[in-house]
Amino acid sequence: MDRLSRSAFWCSGGEGRGGGGEGGSRLYAVCLFCCLCLSAAVVAAQTAGAPVARPPPPMYASNPTKGVIDSSLYYPADAQCLMAAIKKFATAVIVRDRTKAATLLRLVFHDCMTTGGGCEASILSDGEINNPVNADLKRVVPDINTIRDQAGRECGVLPTLADTIARAAAAAVTFTGLNDVVSSGFQLGRRDLAPNQPGNEPTTLPNENQSLDAILTLFATFGLTAKESTVWAIGGHSIGVADCAHFSSRLSNVSTFPGCLRPADPTLDPSLACRLARQCSIQDIRLPFDFVTPFSLDTSYFQLLLKKQGLLKSDQAFSAHPRTSAFIRQYATFPGLFSGDFLKAFVKVSLFNVNSPQTAPPTQYYYP
Ligand code: HEM
Ligand SMILES: *[C@@H]1O[C@H](CO)[C@@H](O)[C@H](O)[C@H]1NC(C)=O
Ligand SMILES: *[C@@H]1O[C@H](CO)[C@@H](O)[C@H](O)[C@H]1NC(C)=O
Repeated sequence: MDRLSRSAFWCSGGEGRGGGGEGGSRLYAVCLFCCLCLSAAVVAAQTAGAPVARPPPPMYASNPTKGVIDSSLYYPADAQCLMAAIKKFATAVIVRDRTKAATLLRLVFHDCMTTGGGCEASILSDGEINNPVNADLKRVVPDINTIRDQAGRECGVLPTLADTIARAAAAAVTFTGLNDVVSSGFQLGRRDLAPNQPGNEPTTLPNENQSLDAILTLFATFGLTAKESTVWAIGGHSIGVADCAHFSSRLSNVSTFPGCLRPADPTLDPSLACRLARQCSIQDIRLPFDFVTPFSLDTSYFQLLLKKQGLLKSDQAFSAHPRTSAFIRQYATFPGLFSGDFLKAFVKVSLFNVNSPQTAPPTQYYYP
């Protein structure tokens, strides 16, 4: 049987199930006509040597709403493909080097939470990535570009860099133990920083010497409550490492040497200070925030804070501040509360100022 008669056979089978009669033969005629048209179209496409025609790129929204996913950026089936593909290729990066999960998570924080900016991939701009604050994020920039390219090739459609950064961080969150943020409402649809825009000021990010009041005030400008700030910051620091430079001033006090007996920072547990001082004296290295489960996004760092074993002064402050100490105790005591709250905070942060007037629609939809 050739293709046409096979199609006609299938059509008549449909008629039989439909009960036959006059309606049946009309259906047969229509069906046969369709089959003929379809076959003709297939033959035409084959002779032209062209694959099935792709629709034109989507009509991008001209004025997307700030802070809201722009659903005009991808056709739905393409968004679905990219969601899975970015996760797959980001996970492959983390499997090769599991320390990159933390760096990818920190990358989305530094992309999304600079004052005046949002999740628009401005972190990759020269002004931001070359700032010393972001020095340790540089190592995953090539990975972001690779993941984007691989996902683009697999789906035939290029994701934006902002979506790649956010989804790669989401993959890191899943790899280190939580559910896929898609189950908490995570979506793709972030435009990238417009080419003529300079990016934002990385020094507006918090640093470890700031008071917790200042940090909470800063996070409040992004709409984070004290509770959300707690789960986001201390949850974030339940994976990854910090350079001794960020905490060595807490360790020893020349006038009370050896510093491990009486740390310069009285909010630090002396036995931990002793160990950190010893490790940092060998060479300038990076040490884990959560030395119990450094590769798990979990509540063990909350528990360490209750024992004065936080690495940064600003982390430790969360367990003493009247606006946050109850939350540290809550997550430390009831780990089951953590996962859902962290994922909700992640989704909220990953929407900060998305599609602001500083962003532009993509110049290329199809890969390459
Ligand atoms: C509350 C204010 C915060 C301060 C003062 C702070 C400060 C720091 C510092 C000093 C480091 C070490 C950098 C280095 O030595 O390379 C670091 C690392 C890190 N931060 Fe924060 N951070 C804050 C909030 C957050 C938040 C909200 C997140 C949420 C995702 C986060 C995620 C991370 C991660 C995952 C790392 C480890 C990166 C790696 O291992 O490559 N931080 N942070
Ligand atoms: C925080 O203060 C310590 C001690 O004064 C200093 O060594 C360190 O560089 C400061 N960190 C930042 C980010 O300013
Ligand atoms: C070091 O210890 C002395 C004596 O306990 C104290 O007066 C001083 O403030 C401490 N210095 C620092 C930097 O913590």
